Amino acid sequence: MERLKVGIVGAAGRGASFFTAFTCNPHTHLEALCDLNEDGLRRTAAEVGVARVFTDYDTMLDQAGLDMVVIGTPMPLHVPQALAALGRDISVMSEVPAAVSLEEARALVAACKTSRGVYMMAENYCYMRENVLVRALARAGLFGTMYYGEGQYIHELKELNEITRWRRHWQTGIDGCTYPTHSLGPVYQWMGERVTSVCCTGSGHHYRDPRGDEYQNQDSITTLCRMERGGLVEIRVDMLSNRPHIMTYYQLQGTDGCYEAARGMGDVPKIWLKSRSQAVEWQPLSDFADEFLPAEWRHPSPEQLAAGHGGGDYLEVQDFVHAIRTGTPPPIGVHEALDMTLPGLISQQSIAAGGVWAAVPDSRTF
Ligand SMILES: NC(=O)c1ccc[n+]([C@@H]2O[C@H](COP(=O)([O-])OP(=O)(O)OC[C@H]3O[C@@H](n4cnc5c(N)ncnc54)[C@H](O)[C@@H]3O)[C@@H](O)[C@H]2O)c1
Repeated sequence: MERLKVGIVGAAGRGASFFTAFTCNPHTHLEALCDLNEDGLRRTAAEVGVARVFTDYDTMLDQAGLDMVVIGTPMPLHVPQALAALGRDISVMSEVPAAVSLEEARALVAACKTSRGVYMMAENYCYMRENVLVRALARAGLFGTMYYGEGQYIHELKELNEITRWRRHWQTGIDGCTYPTHSLGPVYQWMGERVTSVCCTGSGHHYRDPRGDEYQNQDSITTLCRMERGGLVEIRVDMLSNRPHIMTYYQLQGTDGCYEAARGMGDVPKIWLKSRSQAVEWQPLSDFADEFLPAEWRHPSPEQLAAGHGGGDYLEVQDFVHAIRTGTPPPIGVHEALDMTLPGLISQQSIAAGGVWAAVPDSRTF
């Protein structure tokens, strides 16, 4: 079978992190790269050995004969560029979040309904080893009824704001949770239910940008999420506070067990499962890896490991390619992508209204 032709837009930025996963995949060929930054693009293309480069996205879509495109450009371009590809029946793997407004979310759903292309959001934190293992345990029913979760994405990026200027508006220039998917995504998958309403508040404003302007985004944003079956999830996103990063902290609580991710400084991911433990004591999560980790995680191939995130980046791409080849739905299709994205957009309405509870629409009804 002929290899599927892949194009990457934003190839001189985030898009570059997908190179290895596609070059290692036996079913894909990295055909074309696109970026506005021509110098960076040519340098990158030469390094990875891709001959076809474009500085105009539509021209790449029209001329490169692509089967799929990866969108690694700034947040407000994800939907316009996804629509341009889906309109040409080209499959899309989009960076996070899926959309920056409700109108965009509706347009994306409509485009997915009519396109022959597949849409998947590249929520890579859902592919991290620990998160995959907790998901397997949750799906095996070992936590009992899951009713509480936490996700935290604490990533101080005031300097990065000045280099990647789009962040200054789309991440730190709007109040509320502007970047929800890394913290919410894994917990949403564990609990297996969507967020139906959110209540968002913040810690105030304690920093200014180099021009002396206050960030519109409050320093630490907490979004409480009411889940479909009544459970509660707390999401903390903080991109401004002076402090070391911690981008992968999670908790899960069920009637029969609980999980807490590592906090750093030698801490390990830990778990307690009533059915597997004599006493009410923590146990390292890794104790369950042999029994519950999916096979491809237990024995990662060298290609898989080379792709990054301990193999997660490879498996994310593999899932996308598998969906295209087999016509089966991808694990993070448009509705799952919006289940992770819409709570953030609605949190912006909640905080603007003084922290009221606001309903999160279900994109399946769009
Ligand atoms: N999943 C993750 O872990 C993760 C990590 C970092 C960034 N991201 C996401 O990736 C995206 C990009 O982030 P980044 O940090 O790489 O930003 P960036 O600004 O460093 O890179 C974006 C690239 O897109 C290019 N670009 C911009 N407009 C373009 C256009 N119209 N056509 C072609 N190329 C264009 C820019 O020249 C740049 O090279 C964002 O949506 C961000 O949220 C995700």
